Amino acid sequence: MWNYTEKVMDHFLHPRNAGEIENPDAVGEVGNITCGDALKLFIRLDPTKKQILDVKFQTFGCASAIASASALTELIKGRSVEDAMRVTNKDIADYLGELPEEKMHCSVMGMEALDAALANLRGESDGKVTAGE
Ligand code: FES
Repeated sequence: MWNYTEKVMDHFLHPRNAGEIENPDAVGEVGNITCGDALKLFIRLDPTKKQILDVKFQTFGCASAIASASALTELIKGRSVEDAMRVTNKDIADYLGELPEEKMHCSVMGMEALDAALANLRGESDGKVTAGE
């Protein structure tokens, strides 16, 4: 059994912003071929296209992946796109208090989904990424 902080358990058992956004401004989708987990992030921007009005996620993932995705949405909701670009997986882990070393890649999946969504927003990709190769 992993030694999770109370905050990780809270975000795992009560994930924030789980679900889907219809007609999102951007989508970021990551699949990790090593563990088989996947995460999809939906972003809605304000009319100026500079601020993140809403963000939701769907995941087939472990407890850390669910908690990391939930934490990520809390970190970027209401922030500017420019601020969101600076969010790292360490920010996600710090927000949750701590993640076991072996579970840090779950927070990386969150960051990769965000990067994919931001690339999709810039029109640079279809928002899909495969990781863990
Ligand atoms: Fe794969 Fe957590 S074990 S994302």
